[in-house]
Order: sequence, then structure tokens, then C-alpha cells
Amino acid sequence: MAPSTLTALAEEKTLQASFVRDEDERPKVAYNHFSNEIPVISIAGIDDGGEKRGEICDQIVKACEEWGVFQIVDHGVDAKLVSEMTTLAKEFFALPPEEKLRFDMSGGKKGGFIVSSHLQGEAVQDWREIVTFFSYPTRTRDYSRWPDKPEAWRAVTEEYSQKLMELACKLLGVLSEAMGLETEALTKACVDMDQKVVVNFYPKCPQPDLTLGLKRHTDPGTITLLLQDTVGGLQATRDNGKTWITVQPVEGAFVVNLGDHGHYLSNGRFKNADHQAVVNSNSSRLSIATFQNPAPDATVYPLKIREGEKSVMDEPITFAEMYRRKMSKDIEIAMKKKLAKEQLLQDLETPKLETEPKEQLLKDLETPKLETKPIEEILA
Ligand code: OGA
Ligand code: NI
Repeated sequence: MAPSTLTALAEEKTLQASFVRDEDERPKVAYNHFSNEIPVISIAGIDDGGEKRGEICDQIVKACEEWGVFQIVDHGVDAKLVSEMTTLAKEFFALPPEEKLRFDMSGGKKGGFIVSSHLQGEAVQDWREIVTFFSYPTRTRDYSRWPDKPEAWRAVTEEYSQKLMELACKLLGVLSEAMGLETEALTKACVDMDQKVVVNFYPKCPQPDLTLGLKRHTDPGTITLLLQDTVGGLQATRDNGKTWITVQPVEGAFVVNLGDHGHYLSNGRFKNADHQAVVNSNSSRLSIATFQNPAPDATVYPLKIREGEKSVMDEPITFAEMYRRKMSKDIEIAMKKKLAKEQLLQDLETPKLETEPKEQLLKDLETPKLETKPIEEILA
């Protein structure tokens, strides 16, 4: 059974089975074994134009081509607002389970509180609690799904949303220019840009080596701005999961990563960051992800196909369709994995197995044979 909150489970000595991942998915690198491969870029002076803007653009573009991830500092979002946001978020997650569950969205509600994620057919759960709200376009806001405790939550989150929308548009301007397009090109491609904020809370975990806070994925949208505390746990890979690095937390910075939409619009020139979050047994961790997405009916197709290149997409599709294909692929993989596991367990219990190579079967159980496509192809 899926737990309704992680409060009680975090106190146990062992991890509940529903969170235990197959060996091939488990963390390979420690949550606090930090790497400085992801560049930290100061964007002070980005609006001044001229040489300074050019230099900043070059750094951002290089990071987008190599990783699809970079960190920004001197971004102009007020430090007080950021600290209020994190303090209030921590207060929300510290509320008793019944308070958090007043905003339970497990029935498919749009926004609120939930454990793990709301994907259907997931074989294994993520070790996280989230509270999420849809902040743009503003006319779609449903405040009945925004927590009313702590008291300042709504006012602070509204301001935070607005500041992050502005910052995201600034970054999209830089990326548009880098593609040789007018500054507004990427924001225009989003039509009426959507923004969704997901506050992730990863409680201390009794057996962090067996699970993930958030399983490996790419974000579907254009660009994501992640605020993380100093604990560490965000990991990225650029070789399809062979090697991972843990992103060094930088106080006051935003981790910026490109999603699938950004990847397609650039015809694959900019990477869609392949990432996950790991947990630990020493401290809980908080991160706030702000997803900037195109409108559901916005067209997804490369804005610029450079000479000699082929389009990475066969045909233009809507963002809603792109998302639907991504989700059904993810669910299909999760279901196959679940079925393969159940089948093997069943086989192991039948007597005929006495004559079969049991060892091999047990090995298969750890790594079910699924055709795993490289992440770039998942949506193709
Ligand atoms: C996400 C995400 C990473 C983190 O919410 O999509 O990738 O470190 N979060 O919480
Ligand atoms: Ni993500």
C-alpha cells in the first residue's frame, strides 16, 4: 500500500519494500560527493548588453551544449524572498500528516500534496513528499489547491513565482540569441507560458543506498529553475546513466536545466538534462523546482535547423501530445519492469525451477531485460 506521508516511515530502521529499487537504478555516487563540473555562472550585467552579455551568453551556451545544466548566481532574485520561501516550505512539511493531507492530490487533483509522484503504474516509489501548484497563466490558478498554512504561503509563493517567471524569460532570451533568433523567439514558442512549482521534501531515509528521492528523468518543459539547500542530492549524467555526478550546492544559486521542449526547439543542440535526486540518512533535504512549460497546444518543432543538420523530430506535434507520448513510454517501461519482476518471482516458486539455472533467474530479477533506449530517443 502506498503510504500517505513519509513521517512515520522515516523513523523506521529499514526501508519499506515499495521504495526499494532494482540494483541498476540505485545510487552510484554519494549525495555529498560533490563535483564542480557544472559551471556556476554570474549573470550580473546580463541586461547591460554589449560585451558582458556576450560573455555570459557564451558560458550559458557551452553548458547547455555539454550538460543541459548550469548554476546561476547574481540573478537578482531577492535573497530575503528566497529564504522566506524555503522557511515556509519547511514549515509546511513539518505540519502533522492530517494537515498536509487536507491538500491530498492522490485522486488526480490539480495541485496539492502527495508522496512520491502521481504517475500511474509506477513499480517503485520515490522517497519524497511534494507540494505543487500551478502558477501561470494566472487565470488558471486554483487557490483552493494552494496550502493555507503557513499563513504567509500564498503571498510569498505568488511573489516567488513572478520573480522566477521573469528570470526564466531572461534566460530564454539568451538562448534564443544563441540560436541566432530574435530575443523573444523561445518565449513566443511557448505561446502562453505555463509555470508549475514543485516543492520537494526528501526526509532522512533509513536505507538511502536502496532508493532514490526522485528517479532518473528529463524534465518535459522548456527550462527548469531549481533552488536547493546545502545538503546535496541532485545528480546528473551525460553518458546515459553510466556515470553520475552530484551537483555542488551553491548557496543562493539556481540550478538551471533544460527540458525536452528546449532540447527539441534547439534541434538537439542543447541537451535535456538527464538527472535524479538521491537521499541520505543524515538530514532531510528541500528543493524547489520551477518548471517553465509551453502552453499545452503550443507546437513543438525545432526553431532552427542548422546547415547540414536533420530535424530531430519527424513532424510538429503539440506539447500536450509530446507529454502524452513521454508519459506513456515511461509508464510502459515501469509496467514491463513490474511484470517481469512478478513473473520471475512466480517462476522461482514453481518446482520445475529446481532443474533450471536459478542463479541466472535471480540475476535477471535485478536487471530485467528491457530495451532501454537512450534518453534522446525516448520521445522520438
Ligand atoms: C525535479 C527535480 C531535483 C532535486 O523536481 O524535477 O529534478 O534535486 N528535482 O530535487
Ligand atoms: Ni527534474
